[in-house]
Amino acid sequence: MELRRPIEEDADTLLAGSRDPLVREFMQGVFAHRDRASAVRWITEVAPGLWDADRAAHFAVLDGPGPAVGWAELTDLRADEGAAEVAVWLLPAARSLRVAASALRLVCRFGFEQLELQRIDAYAAADNMPVQVVGAFIGFRRAGFRPQLFRSSSTHTLHDAVYATVVPGELC
Ligand SMILES: CC(C)(COP(=O)(O)OP(=O)(O)OC[C@H]1O[C@@H](n2cnc3c(N)ncnc32)[C@H](O)[C@@H]1OP(=O)(O)O)[C@@H](O)C(=O)NCCC(=O)NCCS
Repeated sequence: MELRRPIEEDADTLLAGSRDPLVREFMQGVFAHRDRASAVRWITEVAPGLWDADRAAHFAVLDGPGPAVGWAELTDLRADEGAAEVAVWLLPAARSLRVAASALRLVCRFGFEQLELQRIDAYAAADNMPVQVVGAFIGFRRAGFRPQLFRSSSTHTLHDAVYATVVPGELC
């Protein structure tokens, strides 16, 4: 399991993920790329711009040789607070607790070790049990409930969210 900053070759993975029903249901603001060229532009222009502005760090998730199987990201980076928000998605064929937990652990470790964050937050739809299981598995503690916090990218309906957080000493 490995994370790398996205490269052009990851465009097909991004394209498929941005159109995946579960990703679109449970993640807010997911832009459904129209075609591969749009995904390439996002990878080569948008993601590096966000990274350079210290606003977000996006990674492709690799599980052995072959194309990337998902995405992991730190967004809403707040250097003054030493905090950020994390999210991860996997293509359906790669979904398993092992892969999801490794990807989430690696992106959190990057946040703590390279960005010197002191806390990483996650907001999961209350009805998105898999990601809550994955988060708890690597040390996220449930810290609150936020009614109607975010909108589905597909239906635009509001989801209640479970707020969870992890600090460096608790990541396992
Ligand atoms: C979030 C995501 C990466 C989790 O992936 P995953 O671990 O592969 O998901 P799984 O469906 O395998 O569920 C994880 C574990 O939780 C368990 N689980 C799932 N639903 C459960 C439930 N209702 N109660 C108890 N356990 C449950 C599963 O058994 C699984 O463990 P296993 O692999 O040992 O069987 C994946 O679901 C995804 O890409 N979702 C779309 C995007 C998304 O929601 N991202 C999160 C945004 S915060």
